[in-house]
Amino acid sequence: MRIVSGIQPTGNLHLGNYLGAIRNWVAMQDEWTAQGHDCLYFLADLHAISMPHVPAELAASTREMVAALVACGIDPDRSILFNQTQVPAHVEMQWLLNGTARMGWLNRMTQWKDKAGKNREGASVALFTYPVLQAADVLLYQATHVPVGEDQKQHLELARDIAQKFNNDFASEDAPVFTLPEAIIPPEAARIMSLRDGSAKMSKSDPSDMSRINLADDADAIMQKVKKAKTDPEPLPGDVAGLKDRPEAANLVGIYAAMAGTSPADVLREFEGKGFGAFKPALGELLVEKLSPMAARYRELRQDRDALDAILRKGAEKARALAAPTLDKAYTALGLVRG
Ligand code: TYM
Repeated sequence: MRIVSGIQPTGNLHLGNYLGAIRNWVAMQDEWTAQGHDCLYFLADLHAISMPHVPAELAASTREMVAALVACGIDPDRSILFNQTQVPAHVEMQWLLNGTARMGWLNRMTQWKDKAGKNREGASVALFTYPVLQAADVLLYQATHVPVGEDQKQHLELARDIAQKFNNDFASEDAPVFTLPEAIIPPEAARIMSLRDGSAKMSKSDPSDMSRINLADDADAIMQKVKKAKTDPEPLPGDVAGLKDRPEAANLVGIYAAMAGTSPADVLREFEGKGFGAFKPALGELLVEKLSPMAARYRELRQDRDALDAILRKGAEKARALAAPTLDKAYTALGLVRG
């Protein structure tokens, strides 16, 4: 078993990242490193240049994201925590896989369609080939399990398609070059929605900061954001079926359940018939209680730039060693002579 996953270091770590992915990263680290398996978690800083960005902000956000991940429970002594940039094998592998990935496959990616919008001609080439780099990220390490939120499922399926075609075209059946990775998506909270719009996912790129709860938010900000969250005028129903066609209510109940470690059905049993005037303060307090220890740790860790850089250097050294054999195999399978 080998666990690999990544996060873009643009903006703050938000509640969607935490509940959809990072919480699972920590759980898998705790369970699998104890049994001698590797967990590799990285900052997808190379993916971040596929959209317009400010270089100084990317550098700062990269270090801040390391602090955020450690604050959430990623232990750099047990997990391998690094950024793509310090492991050039990611870029090399992407190029090798570019020969296998098909234009048609990439054209079907919903993220490409969403982010390029109507301006495809003006979108960067990196935005189009983004999923090939993502495939390289996991195939490079023979990842077996990739913990992600729902929105990354299609990219993971593409990684499997690329691996399968590469193995078929360039390897013998009994000695495949790549392992087919499996996406691990949490059964609950796999898609946390914006606090302002129940039909849009909570996202770092939403221009309104009121749409998301950030790890860096203080208690007042969290209470305010929950209070202002969009809802409907109805009281909460007694069962999950009653949340149908009430996306904002379903989202808040889902967040409560995920943070409390219960199910939406249990939350509704407790709050049946109550309005949002009662539910929102309870949700806000729960969020503050669970997030503030991590937020405090984050604020402390982000001060020490040297320590954050040292974490990345150490992680990258280990990642480079783990990546080397598969990269070699891929070059050789393609007939590229490395001397
Ligand atoms: P990114 O940086 O957008 O998000 C990091 C992780 O958080 C999850 N996530 C969510 N989960 C639930 N609800 C939400 N609203 C929400 N928003 C984000 C994402 O599913 C993801 O697991 N392309 C990736 C980074 C990446 C990667 C990889 C991931 C690059 N290479 C290889 C896995 C394997 C991305 O932009 O995630």
